[in-house]
Order: sequence, then structure tokens, then C-alpha cells
Amino acid sequence: MDTAAIYPGSFDPVTNGHLDIIRRSREVFPRLIVAVLCNSRKKAMFSVAARAAILERLLADDDHIEVISFDGLLVKVAQEREASVVIRGLRAATDFEYEFQMAMMNRHLADQIKTMFMVPHEDYTYLSSSLIKEIYELGGTVTGMVPVEVEEQLREHFTGQKE
Ligand code: COA
Repeated sequence: MDTAAIYPGSFDPVTNGHLDIIRRSREVFPRLIVAVLCNSRKKAMFSVAARAAILERLLADDDHIEVISFDGLLVKVAQEREASVVIRGLRAATDFEYEFQMAMMNRHLADQIKTMFMVPHEDYTYLSSSLIKEIYELGGTVTGMVPVEVEEQLREHFTGQKE
């Protein structure tokens, strides 16, 4: 199978759950595009450039992964990049309704683009980027839930200090 897939998201910040989905996707697809959304309705903590840069660093050892940032319709970007599958992670049943709606709408917009759901390792099913930011801000530990590079990014954001 030489199908390329695209994994879109806000990645604000990327978590080990996202990285787990990326690893699993690469076991299935020979080429993966990780697409960082620019203008999310959610207010981002990190700039799109910072989010993409950290993903690029974390995924640098895999030549078959490309990190891009995007604006506008996901299906358009997928078509432009010749990716016919959209990957989304399903952590729990609560994700399903929103994901199902997006998958159906994307199918309506571009019938040839399929959505594939991946389930992360159970250790990551309760993770979300908002929770990571909240826990860190309130002094809790996020070790093991995000890569060390993200911990450093969070430290810098909240204290202005590099280690
Ligand atoms: N591990 C940890 N967290 C995960 C996760 C995983 N495996 N999978 C999802 N999440 C979390 C994210 O951290 C995020 O948490 P947060 O809400 O606390 O920030 C949440 O689940 C969902 O975020 P994400 O996966 O980044 O999706 P999103 O809802 O921010 O963005 C897009 C979804 C980018 C796919 C969608 O908005 C899009 O396609 N936009 C482009 C415009 C478009 O085409 N619109 C029409 C769509 S039908």
C-alpha cells in the first residue's frame, strides 16, 4: 500500500498520545503528513511555528514524515498533498460524536478522502493538551505524558526560563 495519510490537529502542545498515534500510523502508511492547524477556534498557547518546530524535532529521525502547518479546509490540504486518508485518534467514546461528525462532513466535502481512527495506548487515553497545560500551570507533574522537549517549552512559557 503506498497511500499517504494526513494526521491533523492543534498539537498545543503535542503529547505522548499524539506521538503514539503517529507511530501507529507510520506502521500502516509509508508516508505521513502531520498537519498543524494555524487558525483554530481555540486560542493557542504556543505559536503554530513553535508547535510545528517541536514536532519536526521529535520526528526528525523518520524521513517519511513531513510536518506542515495549514489553514483552511483539511480535505483541500489532503488533496493538494495527495493524502487519501485522514488519521484521527479516538481516546474514548466521548470523542466519537465529534469525530464522527467531522468524518462525515469531510466525506461530504471530498468523497475520496477516508477517515481512519486509531486508538492510542491505554496509558494515554485520558490525556489532552488542555489538561497538560492546566496541570503544569498548577504545579503538577506532566512527566511521562509529554516529551521532555514539551516540558521545556512549558517551563519557558510559564517562567520565561530555559534550563
Ligand atoms: N493523545 C492526546 N490527546 C489527544 C489525542 C491523543 N491521541 N488525540 C486527540 N487529543 C486531544 C488534543 O490534545 C485536543 O485536546 P484539547 O482540546 O485539550 O486541546 C483534543 O483531543 C482535540 O484536538 P485535536 O486532535 O488537535 O483536534 P482539534 O479539534 O483541535 O482539530 C482538526 C481538529 C484540525 C482536525 C479540525 O479542526 C480541522 O480539520 N480543521 C480544519 C478546517 C476544516 O477542514 N474544517 C471542517 C472539518 S469537518
